[in-house]
Amino acid sequence: MEKSTITRTTLLAASIVGISLLHYLTPLQLHYLHDIFQRLYYLPIVLAAVWFGLRGGLLCSIMVSIAYAPHILFQWGGQLTIEMEKYLEIVLYNIVGGMTGLLSQRERERTAQLQKTARGLEESYQQLERQSEQMIIIEEQLRRAEKLSTLGEMAAVLAHEIRNPLGSIRGTAEILKDDYQPGDPKYEFIEIQIKETERLNRVVEDFLRMARPQPADMQSCSVQEELETIATLVANDARKRHVQLTLSPPDAPLIIKADGEKLRQAFLNIIINALQATPPGGSVIISTRNYETTACEISFCDSGQGIEAEKLGRIFEPFFTTKPQGTGLGLAITKKIIESHGGAITVASEVGCGTTVTVRFPLQHTANGGTV
Ligand SMILES: Nc1ncnc2c1ncn2[C@@H]1O[C@H](COP(=O)(O)OP(=O)(O)O)[C@@H](O)[C@H]1O
Ligand SMILES: [Mg+2]
Repeated sequence: MEKSTITRTTLLAASIVGISLLHYLTPLQLHYLHDIFQRLYYLPIVLAAVWFGLRGGLLCSIMVSIAYAPHILFQWGGQLTIEMEKYLEIVLYNIVGGMTGLLSQRERERTAQLQKTARGLEESYQQLERQSEQMIIIEEQLRRAEKLSTLGEMAAVLAHEIRNPLGSIRGTAEILKDDYQPGDPKYEFIEIQIKETERLNRVVEDFLRMARPQPADMQSCSVQEELETIATLVANDARKRHVQLTLSPPDAPLIIKADGEKLRQAFLNIIINALQATPPGGSVIISTRNYETTACEISFCDSGQGIEAEKLGRIFEPFFTTKPQGTGLGLAITKKIIESHGGAITVASEVGCGTTVTVRFPLQHTANGGTV
């Protein structure tokens, strides 16, 4: 039994005993006092009904009747006609106990019902909120997808139109360059012209690669082998930058189904970014591991400048770049490649400390040898 129930029951019992004692001990000639005591019984009865409902109210009124009845019978004589009013009072005790109990019980049930409805509403509200959040996310993805597909169509039309004149500009610039000696200001201008044309050409090519995905040639690939190929490819670049590039050996062979060339392209983009962000003396560490037995996780951890929080959300957007020579397409292409392989890419970064790009792919074979 709860502590409050015990306290309340004790209080009710004590008040019934108290009032009864007043009746039994007060001389009968002080009948006006008896009239008051008679009414005092309503207090425990109503309280019991309010606290404990119908059963509590009735139980209390019966207890009062039992306590009061001997007083009428033995002290007042108990004659029905003379003490009629007192007998009626007993009937009223029980009616009041029952009615008040019933009403309070109903009230309590209604309150419980209302609370239940309120809880239900609260739950629905939270569910609605979750759904609307999800909808915002999906809308955002849709918007990005639309942007990419419009860009793709544009690219298909524009790329060739741009590439051909670019070729001519570059060709003629090369010819003009022959007329000047290195050191001549015009020679420098033409060099700039050639360099900028090359950059433009890179942008167009990256753009084309993203907009017009080649059909994938899916084969079993060893993640470690692909990473080794890329690490060898960029080793020279890393050395020139005085950045230590490390590829940790995996615990177990990680085989995924992928288009090797695209996979290497994705890894290359991530590693080049890491190298570009890392100052001399810094390090880029590539490591692989099993993730929940059905996937593999590759992390590229650099000790570079990091990415500010407000930029972190934009780095996968096409054309988002913070580099003077950047195209802003590397990560957009990378994300597309990874997702087309059923994988996912996430980036965590701390300004001044470094960035970790994490890529996950479903494994072709689980760690215990089964096929996924
Ligand atoms: N490892 C990294 N450390 C710091 N910044 C990064 C890193 N990787 C990507 N970024 C940021 O994301 C931007 C977009 O990258 P990317 O799409 O490869 O385009 P680009 O390299 O041509 O700028 C970069 O300009 C850079 O600001
Ligand atoms: Mg890049």
